[in-house]
Amino acid sequence: MDMAVMDIIEKRKSVRTYETTPIGEDVHTSIMEYLQQEENIRGPFGGTAGIEWIWAKAGGEDGKAVKLGAYGVIQNPQAYLAGVVKNEQKALLEFGYIFHKLILYATGLGLGTCWIGGTFSRKSFARELSLRPGEIIPCITPLGYPREKQRLLDATMRYVVKADQKKPWRDLFYDSGFGNQLVPEAAGRLAAALEMVRLGPSASNKQPWRIVLSENRLQVHFYLQHTPNYSGNKLGFEMQRIDIGIAACNFELACRELGIPGTWTVYDPQLGAIDQHTEYMLSYKLS
Ligand SMILES: Cc1cc2nc3c(=O)[nH]c(=O)nc-3n(C[C@H](O)[C@H](O)[C@H](O)COP(=O)(O)O)c2cc1C
Repeated sequence: MDMAVMDIIEKRKSVRTYETTPIGEDVHTSIMEYLQQEENIRGPFGGTAGIEWIWAKAGGEDGKAVKLGAYGVIQNPQAYLAGVVKNEQKALLEFGYIFHKLILYATGLGLGTCWIGGTFSRKSFARELSLRPGEIIPCITPLGYPREKQRLLDATMRYVVKADQKKPWRDLFYDSGFGNQLVPEAAGRLAAALEMVRLGPSASNKQPWRIVLSENRLQVHFYLQHTPNYSGNKLGFEMQRIDIGIAACNFELACRELGIPGTWTVYDPQLGAIDQHTEYMLSYKLS
């Protein structure tokens, strides 16, 4: 890809209205080749996910006519990418990471995407995929070229979930423990990577990630502040774990671009929590 990954993260936003232009064959090939490389479908703990390309209309590669439901939220999708994972806590986090990396790759190729976990018919997608016992389709994304002129529905959706309102640093990032807010100046070289987390997508734009930077600046601890009674968690799996995988993906890709090497670990620093809804998830250890 020609674009820097941090530029792609900044550029990406949910696209719900597409041009009718078909996706170029070179773009399709590029995504299929990306998916064939094993390192691209590995999460921070080495887990993997099944990902399938499905043409939205008849005349796809295999000539199948596909009737897929996204409840009118998505207009003119040319194809979809659908994910399949085991319905387990860690697998959902890894899925968020893997699928978001793919979404960024597609964005870098000029495609529009939209994480969709709620507003689609799982049944219609399940017919196209082979699910094993215990597996679910947590999310899909439509693909196509973004239409500049949005429908009223797009604007309404963005308004309802306040998509353009990303929480400020003071609500998300902490210094040494939950008692102190982290200001960008104090985050040093990690400031840009944290900013990439802040800009990431999340289910209903809840932005449930909370991050504590250790005093010695060598560890970055990720927490999930569960939204109480969140409707997205009532689909039979915990949607918000996916958001943490997305945060980890944006953070790691930014660190790599900034030349800050590190590895993922799960080691709860026992810093206490902001409230009873906040759960430790994983840490990035700078090397
Ligand atoms: C896990 C997940 C599930 C989502 N599910 C839906 C959905 O069902 N329908 C929808 O229109 N948008 C969905 N979104 C998109 C969010 O509403 C969107 O990311 C958020 O409002 C922020 O806007 P942005 O992506 O343009 O930055 C989902 C996003 C994530 C990360």
